[in-house]
Amino acid sequence: MAVSSTSRDPLGPEVSDEAVRSTCDDASQCKRYAVNMGYWKDPYIQHFARHPKERKAPEISRGYYARVEGVTRLVKAFLQKTDRNCQIINLGAGMDTLFWKLKDEDLLPGKYFEIDFPTIATRKIHTIKSKPSLSQPIMESHSGESFLIDSHSLDSTRYAIIGADLRELHKLEEAMKKCGLDPELPTLLMAECVLVYMAPENSDALLRWVADVFPTAMFINYEQRQRFLQNGWEGAHAMDMVEVYNALPPEDVKRIEALEFLDEKELLEQLMLHYCLSWATKDAQDLGLLEITL
Ligand SMILES: C[S@@+](CC[C@H](N)C(=O)[O-])C[C@H]1O[C@@H](n2cnc3c(N)ncnc32)[C@H](O)[C@@H]1O
Repeated sequence: MAVSSTSRDPLGPEVSDEAVRSTCDDASQCKRYAVNMGYWKDPYIQHFARHPKERKAPEISRGYYARVEGVTRLVKAFLQKTDRNCQIINLGAGMDTLFWKLKDEDLLPGKYFEIDFPTIATRKIHTIKSKPSLSQPIMESHSGESFLIDSHSLDSTRYAIIGADLRELHKLEEAMKKCGLDPELPTLLMAECVLVYMAPENSDALLRWVADVFPTAMFINYEQRQRFLQNGWEGAHAMDMVEVYNALPPEDVKRIEALEFLDEKELLEQLMLHYCLSWATKDAQDLGLLEITL
């Protein structure tokens, strides 16, 4: 079966899947740079991304800080509401390290799934295999003797990496069910800068599939504001990143603002206005998910 080999760039014409996959390195390098500068703590990102050779503008790091903090706070609110009796599906996870950070804080959900293109999944698994500080926490959270880890997939009790294309929903659902997906469990789906790289018909189909399959769910989406609004998403909440930044704890914002001098605050605001964080919920189990906010 032929699969479209192009996705759409947020700013223009269609781009190749290869170019989309490379966005994962850009995201992890920007995160690593900001972590090195002290914006937030993440002892794991260094294993997945090279330290960028060039200095990054403070606007970039502050933007990433607001993105990572905003998403993390929503994730933690969901884990609290569900008492961690839930699953998380990180769509287009790239080299994201949230699984390890949640494990360190004793906040793991029942199971944490990551989906990305097979080549990205293979790379991530290879890195995990070669770094005990990444593989050890997976083993510690695993009950039973051994778990599946081959070059394309990893499936342990609490963590799974699945190489799949988010445009092939039947295959994706099958693969996740093989790894123990339970659609009846409260489910948090997150897409951090991912839907924007898919053609609207594909991202619409993905969102419809989520709404059909999971009766109790939350969807967290971070992406370009213009594209997001154009697609008529009816999330319960949407905040542009200036609003997100202003909603973060003032003492932490003060701390990161002291890290690097920023000449033009207006430029940062202009940049952040192009992006938004949105989240939508479905609450068949009446867990209070509608109340979740930043
Ligand atoms: C900008 S990166 C973001 C990575 C990660 N969410 C983060 O914020 O660090 C976008 C990711 O989405 C993945 N992606 C985009 N379209 C996809 C698709 N159709 N199927 C699977 N993964 C996809 C890319 O491979 C890439 O890893």
